[in-house]
Amino acid sequence: MEIIYREAQPSDAEALIEYMKIVGGETDNLTYDSATFDISVKKEERFIERFLRSQRDFMLLAFDEGRIVAFASIERNKIKRFSHRAELSITVLKEYWGRGIGSAVMERLISFAKESGVEVIYLDVRADNVRAISLYEKFGFCEICNFEKYFKIDDEYFDGKIMTLYI
Ligand SMILES: CC(C)(COP(=O)(O)OP(=O)(O)OC[C@H]1O[C@@H](n2cnc3c(N)ncnc32)[C@H](O)[C@@H]1OP(=O)(O)O)[C@@H](O)C(=O)NCCC(=O)NCCS
Repeated sequence: MEIIYREAQPSDAEALIEYMKIVGGETDNLTYDSATFDISVKKEERFIERFLRSQRDFMLLAFDEGRIVAFASIERNKIKRFSHRAELSITVLKEYWGRGIGSAVMERLISFAKESGVEVIYLDVRADNVRAISLYEKFGFCEICNFEKYFKIDDEYFDGKIMTLYI
């Protein structure tokens, strides 16, 4: 298995929407499910273009034989007084979990953050998402708080953790 990592391009838009719908349906760990990830190809292309143009934001994809198997992004907060901080998101296609792709993606995102002058990376994660929390801790992220009832999924509440990495 040779995984290729590269920055997302507008031409990836359609495949990326398909990917998001699949991963949205594979777990309840994300902010969206397959039904709520309803976005047009044009809108997705513009979203990717905005990342490409920015020196401060980064969208990374991983491919196995041309198929998207992971998506990740790091995005600066747009509010000036918060702009030293960037939010990190990551997903890997379920059949590829546990093969080191999440770690390889995290390494690349953290390197980008360092090179582009981010001072604090932050993220939120469902408190019971042990696999993701282990990945974040492996890269030095620390929990700063437990946010009760952070998620409400089909009338059931789940706590969330806010985690940070100070660079
Ligand atoms: C969380 C996620 C990105 C991890 O990706 P991955 O490709 O499986 O990650 P890796 O294979 O690099 O494993 C990373 C670390 O996870 C931890 N891990 C792996 N398997 C685990 C398991 N079964 N239980 C607990 N932790 C586990 C280990 O710390 C591992 O590091 P190590 O192999 O050096 O010990 C992936 O599971 C995923 O996309 N989950 C669904 C979406 C999601 O939850 N995203 C995060 C939202 S906040």
